[in-house]
Amino acid sequence: MSATSAIEARGLTRHFRDVTAVDALDLTVGGPGVFGFLGANGAGKTTAIRMLAGLIHPSAGSIKLLGRPVEKAEVSVRERLGYLPQEPAFYSWMTGEEYLLHTGDLFGLSRKESRARSAELLDLCGLEPAAKRRVGGYSGGMKQRLGIAQALINRPELLLLDEPVSALDPVGRAEVLELIEKLGKEATVFMSSHILVDVERVCEEVAIIDHGKLLVHERTAALRSRALRPVLTCELRGDTGKIERLLAAESWVEAVNSEPGREEPDMTVFRLTVTDRTEAEVRIPRLIAEAGVGLVSLSPALPSLEEVFIALVGRSQKESREEES
Ligand SMILES: Nc1ncnc2c1ncn2[C@@H]1O[C@H](COP(=O)(O)OP(=O)(O)OP(=O)(O)O)[C@@H](O)[C@H]1O
Ligand SMILES: [Mg+2]
Repeated sequence: MSATSAIEARGLTRHFRDVTAVDALDLTVGGPGVFGFLGANGAGKTTAIRMLAGLIHPSAGSIKLLGRPVEKAEVSVRERLGYLPQEPAFYSWMTGEEYLLHTGDLFGLSRKESRARSAELLDLCGLEPAAKRRVGGYSGGMKQRLGIAQALINRPELLLLDEPVSALDPVGRAEVLELIEKLGKEATVFMSSHILVDVERVCEEVAIIDHGKLLVHERTAALRSRALRPVLTCELRGDTGKIERLLAAESWVEAVNSEPGREEPDMTVFRLTVTDRTEAEVRIPRLIAEAGVGLVSLSPALPSLEEVFIALVGRSQKESREEES
């Protein structure tokens, strides 16, 4: 980590009439590296990123980027930033190449520099074959790549990417994540997402926000072991009231959620968050046999971000209760 932080937000707040989209957010991001900014829909990610990018003013709080307070050094800092909006808007009549040249002009690059940089970025973002096609005919994924390419035109030291992979198919996603990882070797990449697995793959550190407030900020590996309890999905047939009570009473079960099976009327699907997967795999079939219900399937599942939230919020409330008593 370098001596100056790439991002330093203190008490960052933004209200929209009666909605507090970002609520007293304190966040320090070092660099270089890839930093994940997670939260559910409406958590406040875009609002926070737009404040960092200087597109909207905070209602309160301060921001330093690359060691400079933004209000004092707005222009010089802006030149060292790259920004990808969640829904990039393009002139649909321009070709991808023309769009990048135009962006180069905006950053004051010479035509020669602009041409060289555009060619390099078209190649880097896998848009070479579509360079001479009009952006209006690009797919969602191609637009997202072009958005990343334009954000890189000025070789930014800090790259703010708002949902850079959400419109991409699995192959495109893997490619763009790989590109982001590469960019993170030299620059600080701050990327938002509500898809935990993407963030887990490339981000060394993550911050999670919920209702505009910072819930957690830590290294991905630590978060994974602390918050990502294994989840098992279990499909059962029959009267499942008793098994639900039996499962909830087990010490290795942290949470039980159930919903009716979609395909057949007498099925119930349980999602179990467990602390010990080995124990769960041995004990669940036994408990099911005891309860006299049919086991249709038992399989591991990925914990959803929501389950991470619930686990974290639940635990932090429990911890604060314990501290009080
Ligand atoms: N321009 C605006 N006017 C009014 N309310 C807004 C505006 N922008 C955002 N909000 C509100 O602020 C909250 C946070 O929205 P924001 O777009 O920052 O969330 P997000 O985390 O980016 O969500 P998503 O994952 O859906 O992109 C929401 O309640 C939203 O309705
Ligand atoms: Mg958003």
